Amino acid sequence: MSEENKYDLVIIGSGPGGYVAAIRGAQLGLKTAIIEKEKHLGGTCLNVGCIPSKALLHSTEMYHFAGHGAKAHGIELSNLSISIEQLMAKKSKTVDQLRGGVQHLMKANKIKVFQGLGMLAGDGKVRIKEKNDERTLSAKHIIIATGSATIELPFLKFDGETVVSSDQAIAFEKVPAKLAVVGAGAIGLELGSVWARLGAQVDVIEFLPNIAPTFDKDVSKMAERLFKKQGMNFHLQTKVTGLKTAKGKTILTAEKDGQEIEFEADKILVAVGRKPYTERLGLETVGIETDEKGRIPVDKHFKTSAHGVYAIGDVIPGPMLAHKAEEEGVACVERIAGQAGHVNYEVIPNVIYTEPEIASVGLTEAAAKEAGIEFKSGKFNLAGNGRAIATDATDGFVKVTACAKTDRILGVQVIAKSASELIASAVTHMEYGGSAEDLGRTIHAHPTLSEALKEAGLAVGGNAIHST
Ligand code: NAI
Repeated sequence: MSEENKYDLVIIGSGPGGYVAAIRGAQLGLKTAIIEKEKHLGGTCLNVGCIPSKALLHSTEMYHFAGHGAKAHGIELSNLSISIEQLMAKKSKTVDQLRGGVQHLMKANKIKVFQGLGMLAGDGKVRIKEKNDERTLSAKHIIIATGSATIELPFLKFDGETVVSSDQAIAFEKVPAKLAVVGAGAIGLELGSVWARLGAQVDVIEFLPNIAPTFDKDVSKMAERLFKKQGMNFHLQTKVTGLKTAKGKTILTAEKDGQEIEFEADKILVAVGRKPYTERLGLETVGIETDEKGRIPVDKHFKTSAHGVYAIGDVIPGPMLAHKAEEEGVACVERIAGQAGHVNYEVIPNVIYTEPEIASVGLTEAAAKEAGIEFKSGKFNLAGNGRAIATDATDGFVKVTACAKTDRILGVQVIAKSASELIASAVTHMEYGGSAEDLGRTIHAHPTLSEALKEAGLAVGGNAIHST
């Protein structure tokens, strides 16, 4: 094999896990290549996930404010309208800019980019099926970072037109009159919010008793109340059963307490989770077997059962989050380079970018209870925060849960405007093993929403200042 096709590190998949691992590899002096089957680098997150959805959320939030909040500030707007075409163009511009950024980072770090389908091809080999060509690379180390794909319900197959995944729901050409959303997790709530703000009737059908079910119950309950006020309808403990057509209309059928319910819908967004993506990856050529959920088993250094083959991100166990994949990519490459990279799985923040946003890190009260840990919690309502009052952001609260014996923070839950930013300081405190008192005694600028975090820390000891 020519020197040109020999690499220290070959990464399959260029999402946040893969491309970040590639950069770290190059920084550490490894001759690195990355393979991407799609036209653009960046994976689901950049192209059809986190980034475009955040652009749509931002634009529609401003539209919603213009129609519902501006007047209270003395801002008079008449003939308010929104162009979906322009909204989508703005979203695409954001995505394009970031695609260019990743491309630039590859070039700047001298990482070789191959566009084609990458497949394992036996010990230390990766085959790339390009458009009109095929080539084989040899690699001392191979990282699988192929991410995940949307889960399809057997009785609700995607047709890309009426029954859609988030891939299409970020790109509707017009506002659907009636949008049914199956699943009240991150995607269902974020994209449900986008289209509800644009005027769609949104019915969210969720199997479990709460929306955003992985968050603290108090958070879920408040979110449900606030999102209902924004016009979303929730149907909880409701099981979707099928699809039918009646009088030319599409009807989603569901069941609650033994009763059949019908939802007429122009579009049905199925957002019931994602599954690891390992199709046509050649795992069998190196003897890797996936587990019962289709994930690639790895040890704590991301090594698979095959020598020199590693896996990170959505294809391995753990939360399917871009920042988790990134950290794993960095830690995995550092291990390969003989350094001590590691990921602290106890402090991975989780965010839903609705309005208000929902963010958490660490254990919920329910999880602490289940683990048999004695805990105490402190809660602070945004209604008692000066900045929140001055900026119409009083909906929400911060809850800090700490070990009853040591006061060490176990988890933090936030439902508030900018919760995605607020959670960062909670993550930092936890990373350093901080206590609720540490957080409560840390000076936060006044007036900021972040003071609610400090107050919730103080509240754990019953010492919050601005609560009654
Ligand atoms: P999810 O796992 O967050 O939520 C799926 C929801 O669907 C759950 O509440 C579940 O109980 C419900 N469900 C499952 N089967 C159902 C059924 N048959 N009928 C009714 N409800 C049903 O999955 P989602 O929203 O599809 O997101 C996929 C992945 O992408 C997740 O891992 C998520 O964390 C990640 N993601 C993260 C985002 C963020 O960080 N803001 C944004 C979007 C996605």
